[in-house]
Amino acid sequence: MTVVLPVASGKGGVGKSILSANLGVALAQAGKTVVLADLDLGGSNLHTVLGLRNKHSGVGHYITKDADSIESLLVETELSRLFFIPGDALLPGTANLPFFRKQRMIKELGELPADFVILDLGSGSSYNTIDFFLTNSGGLMVCTFEPTSILNAYSFLKTALLRLLYRSFPAKSEERSVIEAFGNEKLEGTEKSFRDLAPRLQEISPEAAAHVEKQIEAFSPRVVLNMGRSAADLQLGARLRTISRNNLALELEYIGVLPYEEEVSRSVVERRPEVLRRPESRFAFNIHEVARRLIAAPVPNPPVLYPDNEDLKALSEELG
Ligand SMILES: Nc1ncnc2c1ncn2[C@@H]1O[C@H](COP(=O)(O)OP(=O)(O)O)[C@@H](O)[C@H]1O
Ligand SMILES: [Mg+2]
Repeated sequence: MTVVLPVASGKGGVGKSILSANLGVALAQAGKTVVLADLDLGGSNLHTVLGLRNKHSGVGHYITKDADSIESLLVETELSRLFFIPGDALLPGTANLPFFRKQRMIKELGELPADFVILDLGSGSSYNTIDFFLTNSGGLMVCTFEPTSILNAYSFLKTALLRLLYRSFPAKSEERSVIEAFGNEKLEGTEKSFRDLAPRLQEISPEAAAHVEKQIEAFSPRVVLNMGRSAADLQLGARLRTISRNNLALELEYIGVLPYEEEVSRSVVERRPEVLRRPESRFAFNIHEVARRLIAAPVPNPPVLYPDNEDLKALSEELG
């Protein structure tokens, strides 16, 4: 069983690539076969964090069809169980990923012969990023302790939840219109929340209402707080849980907190993952804790999603 594990964040520079690389090493050290895929299209730099040379074909070549399969992109690393899929640093300009290519890519990533396929995603809430994030109902959200990082993480989760619910119903359905209208209403600072969505769908059908409730309940992103400086910071980190619970009806799980350590920045300059460079550090210890929790609960069931109208749009583009 291959577990695809997306790593996302609302804001850039919060440590997605650092977490992805070090988690990949920790999971491999724990005996798992791991693929690290650089999906930060337009900003690929995971090879740097891993200390690999930027010379292999990557996802950019797959998108342009210069490479036939995702599996053909696998690159070995210094760890026998850790493999790497480069991004689009060598062949950029592919941030616009056609819908059918993306669907096929998601399928192929899930079929790689590995225990974990970690997706190091780009920052922000573009639909491509969100669709990769939704491949696992328990995807990882990286967030730091700055208020803007927390608010951006909240916005990301809200956009992801709306898209998840929207794509839970077929194109042109009445349910989609209701969900879209709901998405345009303001929740923050009001009594309203995603709990109000199911009753509105009840008017269409009890099944639709029940389905929405089920999908919200099954959506359980897991948060890794990064760059913690003191225990008092955790209070701020908990804010993401409170606003997500109040407005989105989501129960977030926190599966790790990583300390701010200056040496981590140095590991990027030295191009060697911190878990290998300083295995005795607090940072490395906490990464291994996250790995241990993921092995115990990989959340392998992706939600079933209909395409947006992108399938139709893509087909119309094929018509020229
Ligand atoms: N725990 C940490 N302690 C110290 N610095 C960190 C830590 N995590 C990340 N950084 C710094 O933040 C920078 C950005 O991290 P990166 O993983 O590239 O972010 P992202 O992929 O989210 O854009 C790193 O180059 C590193 O200097
Ligand atoms: Mg990154």
